Amino acid sequence: MQKLVITGEKKINGEISVHGAKNAALPLLAACVLTNGIVTMQNCPKLSDVYASCRILTCLGCKCQRFGDTVKIDTTGISKHEVPEDLMREMRSSIVFLGAILGRMGKCRLSFPGGCELGPRPIDMHISALKQMGAEIVEEHGLLDCSVGKGLHGAKIMLSFPSVGATENIMMAAVLAKGDTIIQNVAREPEITDLANFLNMCGARITGAGGSTICISGVKELHGCDYSVMPDRIVAATYLGAAAITGGEIRLNNARPSDLEAVLPVFEEMGCRIYSYSDNIYLSCHKPLKAVKTIRTMPYPGFPTDAQSILLAVLSKAHGTSVIVENIFENRYRQVDELVRMGCDIKTEGKVAVVEGVKKLYGANVISTDLRGGIALVLAALAAEGETVVENIKLIDRGYDKIETSLSQLGANIKRISM
Ligand code: UD1
Repeated sequence: MQKLVITGEKKINGEISVHGAKNAALPLLAACVLTNGIVTMQNCPKLSDVYASCRILTCLGCKCQRFGDTVKIDTTGISKHEVPEDLMREMRSSIVFLGAILGRMGKCRLSFPGGCELGPRPIDMHISALKQMGAEIVEEHGLLDCSVGKGLHGAKIMLSFPSVGATENIMMAAVLAKGDTIIQNVAREPEITDLANFLNMCGARITGAGGSTICISGVKELHGCDYSVMPDRIVAATYLGAAAITGGEIRLNNARPSDLEAVLPVFEEMGCRIYSYSDNIYLSCHKPLKAVKTIRTMPYPGFPTDAQSILLAVLSKAHGTSVIVENIFENRYRQVDELVRMGCDIKTEGKVAVVEGVKKLYGANVISTDLRGGIALVLAALAAEGETVVENIKLIDRGYDKIETSLSQLGANIKRISM
C-alpha cells in the first residue's frame, strides 16, 4: 500500500503538459474491439484504469503493446466475448465494453458493475437502448448475458438523461448495426466527440457528436487507424486548482481552453488571472482568493461534476461563503469529513455544500474516498501548514499519471512512500 506525504505552503509555479484524458481513452480502447486491424493510440495516459482496459482487450484476444505514450492494439485475433468478473470490478466504467463487444461478436457476457465510490451506478438506460436495437439481455446473479440473434439493427432512441456512458455504449453498438440509429438527448461531453472522431477515422458514419442528437449509419466493417487521445480537461482543472490554492502561477500546455468554458470563469471570479490561447492556459493568482456565487454541476457544457471536488477544496481557502450544488452523483461529498480534519469549514446537506473560506489549513492524516475526492485532499495539503499524509492513493492513480512527479516539478514538496 502506498501513501502521499505532502509538506504544504509551497507555491505551485511553472509549466506542465496535460496528459491524455482518462474518460476519452477508456471508451476509445473499448471501441478498438469494433475494429479489425491495428489501432495506434497516441497520448494514451499511463493510468491504472487504462492498464485495466488493456487487460480486458488482451482477455478478449487482442494484442496490446505500449511504447511510451503510445498504445498499439491489434484486434485481428479477437475471439472471446466475456469479461472476467475481477476485471469488471477493477474498473467500474468497464461497462463501456458492452456495446463494443456486442457490436463485434454478437454476444457479450460480463458482470453487472454494481455500486462504486460515487454511489449506485445504474445502467438501465444502456440496457433499455440496446434492447431497442435488438439485443436480448438476461440479468442473473449479477451477470449480464447479452446476445443479438440475427444482429443489431438501428433504432430511434431518446435518452431520459444525457448519460455519458449510455451515449458511448449506444454509439458503439450502432456503428456496425444494420441501418440508421438516431440518439436524442445525448451527452455532449468533448469525450463523446473524441469517440465519434475516432470511430469515423476507422470507417464509421457518425454525425452530430457534440450536439444533442447523434445519427449513426451502420457500416459492415471498421478498420484500424492512428489516433491521438484528447487532453484531460479535469487534470487541467486540477493543476489550475493547485496554482490557485497556493497563490502560484502556472502555464498548461496540451490543454484545450474550449473544453473548460464552464470552469475558467470560476477561477476568474475567485480573483485569478487567466489567459488562454490555442492549446495553452495560463493562470496566476497573486491576491487572496474570493468566494464565488453558486456552482451547479450539470451535464456538458455545464460545470463538470468531476471538477466540483477540485473547486470545493480551492474554495475552502477563499474569503467568504460559496455554495455548491451537485446534481449528477449523489455521493460526491465523501471527502468533506477528511477536508474538515484539515481545517476546512464545509457543511453538506443532500446535494448542497456550503463552503466557508478559512485563513489557514493544517496538515493531517487523511484517506482518499474516490478519485477526484482524493485529489481534492492533495490540493488542500499543498496549501496546508505542516505535513499531510494521504492514504488509499490507488484511487488517485486511476486518473493521474504519477501525480507526485508532476507536482514536484511545479515546486510542491510531495513524495510517494510504500507502507
Ligand atoms: C462519466 C465519467 C465520469 C463523470 C460522469 C459525468 C467516464 C469513464 N466517467 O461517468 O467521470 O463524472 O460521466 O460527467 O467517462 N445514470 C442512470 N442510468 C444509466 C446511466 C446513468 O441513472 O443507465 C445516472 C448516473 O447514476 C448518474 C448520471 O446518470 O447519476 C450521470 O451518469 P453518466 O453520465 O452515465 O456517467 P458515467 O458515464 O458513469
